[in-house]
Amino acid sequence: MKFYLAPLEGITTYVYRNAYHKYFRPMDKYFTPFIVPHIDKKFNTRELKELSKEHNAGLYVVPQLLTNNAEDFQKTARDIIDLGYDELNLNLGCPSGTVVAKKKGSGFLAYPDELDRFLDEIYSKAECKISIKTRIGKTDPEEFHRLLEIYKKYPLEELIIHPRVQADYYKNTPNWEMYRLAYEQGKENLCYNGDIFTKEDYDRFISAFPETECIMLGRGIIRNPALVEVLEGNNKSKKEALVGFHDMIYDEYQRISSGDRNVLFKMKEFWCYLGTSFEGTEKIMKKIKKTEKLRDYEVYVKAMFDTLE
Ligand SMILES: Cc1cc2nc3c(=O)[nH]c(=O)nc-3n(C[C@H](O)[C@H](O)[C@H](O)COP(=O)(O)O)c2cc1C
Repeated sequence: MKFYLAPLEGITTYVYRNAYHKYFRPMDKYFTPFIVPHIDKKFNTRELKELSKEHNAGLYVVPQLLTNNAEDFQKTARDIIDLGYDELNLNLGCPSGTVVAKKKGSGFLAYPDELDRFLDEIYSKAECKISIKTRIGKTDPEEFHRLLEIYKKYPLEELIIHPRVQADYYKNTPNWEMYRLAYEQGKENLCYNGDIFTKEDYDRFISAFPETECIMLGRGIIRNPALVEVLEGNNKSKKEALVGFHDMIYDEYQRISSGDRNVLFKMKEFWCYLGTSFEGTEKIMKKIKKTEKLRDYEVYVKAMFDTLE
């Protein structure tokens, strides 16, 4: 089974990806959070840090683009290729209201004719591999029939499906019936994404789709970074891995962030997900969330790790 790390804006930054790669079962691919093409410049400082090869050494990284404009896609694709990449991912899944209002992300799915023309342009002039990460529609899962017909026309490097519609955001459960449409048309280059949080979720999914070759994991990993090891029945990671992982992220954010507040903001977001994995740690979690000083943060985090087996 191939495992991919999902793009999670603000969380799976290069800092996170490198620490994960060092301490846990390395992912077969890492997807960057979405990048929106700029009109007036190539990349901003944050994006350049995210994409620079030295920040991604030894990892297979796929930059993700969010746009509905073929020219912008091509221009930014060229700039990304110049940085040393040969594969890109197109975001057709983002459910955020502001993105959808601009007909981007999963908002683009409501305009299949335009989407078809856009894909025709980007694939006919492609200078690198392009994969797609998609939801199954904007409001109605039945939209997926048409979308799948469109995707089939193009040489997608991979089709990654998160089987929810935009209107679901992250509510309800992934629609496996619709996912099956794609699965039955071919398992090659197909990747499933959605709500695999435990070994039980994984086993249930694999018994429904036994020929699955690739799974992308998002929230499951940020809650439990040892999840892939758990899924593979090979849970070797120990507390030391988690401490090393935390410390590497914390050290790097201290090195690159301006001011304690920004470091704490990042680390609180990190604990927001990770903290849900540990029972009986609500009091310490509350302290971590409230702290405004790095010194106190370190005391609480040590206390947190001391409580873990
Ligand atoms: C905080 C957050 C940020 C996300 N950012 C992105 C993003 O930048 N690009 C993208 O394609 N999906 C993004 N997603 C969606 C995830 O990549 C993934 O498709 C979704 O979480 C479902 O997978 P999961 O159930 O394994 O988490 C984001 C999701 C969350 C919760």
